[in-house]
Amino acid sequence: MQLPSHLQKAIESEVSKYGLGNITRAAADLSEKYRLLQPSTERFITTELDRLAYIAVRMPATFAAARAVFAEMRRLATELPVNSLLDLGAGPGTAAWAAVNVFEDVHRITLIEQDRGLISLGKTFAGESEDEALRSADWLSLNLKTVDEFPAHDLVVCSYSLGEIETEAARKVLRAAWYAAIRAIAIIEPGTMKGFELVRNARDELIKSGGNVLAPCPHHQTCPMSGDDWCHFARRFQRTPLHRRIKSAALGYEDEKFSYIVVAKHPVRQVQARVIRHPLRRPGYTQIQICDKDQLRSITVTRSDRELWKRARKIDWGDDWEVKEERKRNKRK
Ligand SMILES: C[S@@+](CC[C@H](N)C(=O)[O-])C[C@H]1O[C@@H](n2cnc3c(N)ncnc32)[C@H](O)[C@@H]1O
Repeated sequence: MQLPSHLQKAIESEVSKYGLGNITRAAADLSEKYRLLQPSTERFITTELDRLAYIAVRMPATFAAARAVFAEMRRLATELPVNSLLDLGAGPGTAAWAAVNVFEDVHRITLIEQDRGLISLGKTFAGESEDEALRSADWLSLNLKTVDEFPAHDLVVCSYSLGEIETEAARKVLRAAWYAAIRAIAIIEPGTMKGFELVRNARDELIKSGGNVLAPCPHHQTCPMSGDDWCHFARRFQRTPLHRRIKSAALGYEDEKFSYIVVAKHPVRQVQARVIRHPLRRPGYTQIQICDKDQLRSITVTRSDRELWKRARKIDWGDDWEVKEERKRNKRK
């Protein structure tokens, strides 16, 4: 997975105006800020160097996560039309780029962002897109906390943004976002304990408001994840030479870890079970951790079960697992 080439070129052109050394230092400072700071009234990204550092280092990662979430949403609910998108805490428009990459029929996009500098860069990048909806998107410079009502759109997304807002204010934003969602809402956060906690609380709130969880959960019961465990997934993206140089990274790829929830307004088909870890592959057997209808459990598939074995060998972290088939087979034994 990589950023669309038009976007990547536009980013490189902006970064080249500031010099790689400056961007690299700003990226290191920003990463430390994100590590230490709590959700607050202060802004995390404040200077042009911060903005470009964020864009060069984090945009490929958050794009990969948002794209994975939208792809899963489309896979599970092909009938759900996404003609309009509202991106809250849009930054440079990452989630909107991911959405037009997945949903072919998006023709209206609204992005809300508090930082005018990010909006300006976002507009520059969007101007390079092949997608008409992205090029003609509405960018609103607003503080989400001060807005009581958002304009209605099919899909509302909060990608890596709610976590920057204090808990009570974020709850209010979530309520207004849910109200604005005609079809569905997607919340994406870093795949950390803290990110997951936010996602789990949002899940509880949205279910209480009558929402139907589409992904990743196979049920609407209380989330069974407990203790110091957290539900998250990963998406690999290819590092560009620019990304590698800024991060002084040896590997040609990075795995972005994220937690997410997609909740629909109308009843939806859920997966039967979700694979919540990398499967453990050993000669003769594969062990798969799943979140099932009512519990977390581990299943072991042995080579002797030919059909299940074929599936188990291909299954990956984040995929769904068909439980019925597995139960039928266990009964037959
Ligand atoms: C980590 S960035 C994520 C940007 C983008 N959504 C992405 O996925 O790459 C968080 C963004 O949320 C914005 N944000 C945070 N609090 C906000 C608020 N109260 N109102 C508007 N935007 C906000 C920040 O300015 C920043 O651009």
